Amino acid sequence: MSSHGARSVCRWTGGAQERRRPAGGTPFNRRGTRVPRDTWLPSVGAVLSRVTAFAIDGLDSRPVTVEVDIRAGLPAFAVVGLADKAVREARERVRAAVLNSGFEFPQRRITSNLAPAYLRKVGPGFDLAIAVGLLAASGQVPAEALERWAVFGELSLGGELRPARATLSVAEGARRLGIEGLVLPRERAAEAALVEGLRVAGVATLREVTEVLAGERRAPTPPPAPAAHESEGEPEADLGDVRGHAEPVEALVIAAAGGHHLLMEGPPGTGKTMLARRLPGILPPLDRAEAIEVTRIRSVAGLHAGPALAAGRPFRAPHHSISASGLVGGGAVPSPGEATLAHHGVLFLDELSEFARPALEALRQPLEDGHVIVVRGQHASRFPTRFMLVAATNPCACGFAGEAGRCRCSDADIARHRRRLSGPLLDRVDLLIGVPRPSADDLAAGPAATSTAARERVLAARERQARRLVGTGVACNARLTPRLLRRDVALSGTADAALRDAHERAHLSPRGRQRVLRVARTVADLEGAERVGTEHVLRALSLRQHEPGEEPDARSATPAAAPG
Ligand SMILES: Nc1ncnc2c1ncn2[C@@H]1O[C@H](COP(=O)(O)OP(=O)(O)O)[C@@H](O)[C@H]1O
Ligand SMILES: [Mg+2]
Repeated sequence: MSSHGARSVCRWTGGAQERRRPAGGTPFNRRGTRVPRDTWLPSVGAVLSRVTAFAIDGLDSRPVTVEVDIRAGLPAFAVVGLADKAVREARERVRAAVLNSGFEFPQRRITSNLAPAYLRKVGPGFDLAIAVGLLAASGQVPAEALERWAVFGELSLGGELRPARATLSVAEGARRLGIEGLVLPRERAAEAALVEGLRVAGVATLREVTEVLAGERRAPTPPPAPAAHESEGEPEADLGDVRGHAEPVEALVIAAAGGHHLLMEGPPGTGKTMLARRLPGILPPLDRAEAIEVTRIRSVAGLHAGPALAAGRPFRAPHHSISASGLVGGGAVPSPGEATLAHHGVLFLDELSEFARPALEALRQPLEDGHVIVVRGQHASRFPTRFMLVAATNPCACGFAGEAGRCRCSDADIARHRRRLSGPLLDRVDLLIGVPRPSADDLAAGPAATSTAARERVLAARERQARRLVGTGVACNARLTPRLLRRDVALSGTADAALRDAHERAHLSPRGRQRVLRVARTVADLEGAERVGTEHVLRALSLRQHEPGEEPDARSATPAAAPG
């Protein structure tokens, strides 16, 4: 390690290496990279290098050119270009890492500019680009290599590379840019290698980076991405653990089969949370495109650590104290919220009535559109939010409404509790079921289903949907549009009559009617039925008791009873 302060002449500051620009000329070629030194003309002593790096913007990355300019003057080191604190702090890390790796740190006036200037640069992922730019401008790595390689990573003071977030987005950005390869921390190489057609060099230290750029070290090929962990939620959890609850378990299967949102209501301790945690285990596995998307989101959120590709469906269960921006995304620099982390998986809101109203209201757009747009200043970030909503709640504040003699709530209390649930959210829930206290016999009996058996039924039903919906852009029954409903749910005469009857008696709204049709389609798919029959419609009606906002006395005491 050299102590540059004690040395009189640095390799690159020595008089012999002073470079001169030709009058009106420039020592850089069109692509902004330094031309080979033997073509240089005598100089006035300024050197510039350019490195391609990436800024994270929502879930995507945008190319950033890191320019490093070194010129005569008092020793100084500035980083400019709408950089946040972590990027400006890169100066200290870069200085220490360069020296501790045995390179010279030029005692001159150094300016690093991150362009384009309007784009906000966040996080420590620019360390490596600034360090490499500095080494190139001081002739310590070949600048030509920077045309072919982009770099991304955080530096430690000792010159080791630390993994940074959003590697997958960065690798995709590099591929889009048509750059040949990406140098990044070794721990993230497998994640970057998910992007096909991009050379990935996973390295451990700044020294190794320079060796790769100089062509002295072959970029180690990362191992093929292993299939990652099982589904989230509770990996060991099986539906076979649940005693009794034949009805709620069947409702869970219907929800999984059609991708329907589900609300469970019942007294405490009856197994609502237990049921919800078993949902990811009966959902179909992620396909590759979905897995890439889930990995990208987790990586941007800093949650993706181990294996390269996420395999399990996400299961997010935020605490009810969560804020609106925590739920749908936000922050000064927009980052994904729980709704996005649950994309392609399950968002579980336990104790729904305890969530703050603004937080639940904020879920309206994500539920309706499948994405949320977070606007900060002039800039909008779009986050996908296609999740299955599962919510659980007590029927009243004490939890025992409907159980004779146990509930201490007044009618007004119950009405207030119900109002907290009603509104835009409940209106988008397809299945609304009761989870009553299981009887002693139920608890002694065997399970209603195992996860393996349930998943097989779900998979078969999903296959039927996929075949029918091919080319429509709709993945499951829960998202059938009115036009597709007309096409795919042709009701028989008696089925239509049953629905009309329910319409009269249960005051079904037009939205409620569509909901019944979608669920009926799923029930038919689970049975392997081509047409939606009367029994499917009746079943769908029994899985949705009342319209939100109704008075409590309009509900029957046992929520699982059929309407009317
Ligand atoms: N139907 C059931 N079968 C088996 N165990 C149950 C059942 N209901 C509740 N339990 C047990 O009680 C615990 C609490 O259940 P939980 O799902 O948290 O209830 P809730 O969310 O309805 O208040 C569960 O972890 C489980 O051990
Ligand atoms: Mg619970």
